[in-house]
Amino acid sequence: MVVLLIVMMAAVQVSYAAVYKVGDSAGWTTLAHIDYTNWSATKNFQVGDIVTFEYNAQFHNVMRVTHVMYKSCNASSPIVTFTTGNDSIKITNYGHHFFFCGVPGHCQAGQKVDINVLRVSAAAAPTPSALAFPILPVAPSPRSAAPFIYLKGAFGMMGLAMAILAFSNSA
Ligand SMILES: *[C@@H]1O[C@H](CO)[C@@H](O)[C@H](O)[C@H]1NC(C)=O
Ligand SMILES: *[C@@H]1O[C@H](CO)[C@@H](O)[C@H](O)[C@H]1NC(C)=O
Ligand SMILES: *[C@@H]1O[C@H](CO)[C@@H](O)[C@H](O)[C@H]1NC(C)=O
Repeated sequence: MVVLLIVMMAAVQVSYAAVYKVGDSAGWTTLAHIDYTNWSATKNFQVGDIVTFEYNAQFHNVMRVTHVMYKSCNASSPIVTFTTGNDSIKITNYGHHFFFCGVPGHCQAGQKVDINVLRVSAAAAPTPSALAFPILPVAPSPRSAAPFIYLKGAFGMMGLAMAILAFSNSA
């Protein structure tokens, strides 16, 4: 039932899919001193939306990382790295999606953004810890282990419980 509801919500939201350019006209950079947290906070991201990072690939990149890595600006083991200078990433699940520039010093300088897709509408109060499914772009493995590996580090029991619920309903 939960899964059905989620699927229905996702289907509705697909028709409203939007494209967001990170940093708007300034793009993905350290030069303009963009407050990407602020940029992100003013958006109402939905599953199915596309987030585009435009930047000079000689000086920047885009790394998708875990919450722990994001907080500490630790670029040692990104989940995925984008380097084309014009990377469009489709948001396929709810929860937080953490990105920063992996060039030394850039994350510390503020070139980091948390794309948070809320389950509820932006008008409602934020959820304590949104559920995130595995954030690899394409998961070749079956859905079995992946959510638990990701949830282990960054998310609390609530997320874990929801993952188990979703997993058991959809299995
Ligand atoms: C956040 O963005 C709003 C609107 O774009 C702006 O008025 C405000 O000054 C910004 N706050 C910070 C801390 O940058
Ligand atoms: C970065 O993360 C790696 C493993 O994820 C860890 O071994 C390393 O100590 C971390 N570096 C810092 C500076 O925290
Ligand atoms: C980046 O790609 C988008 C399409 O995905 C395109 O509309 C845009 O013009 C590109 N920007 C640059 C600077 O190439």
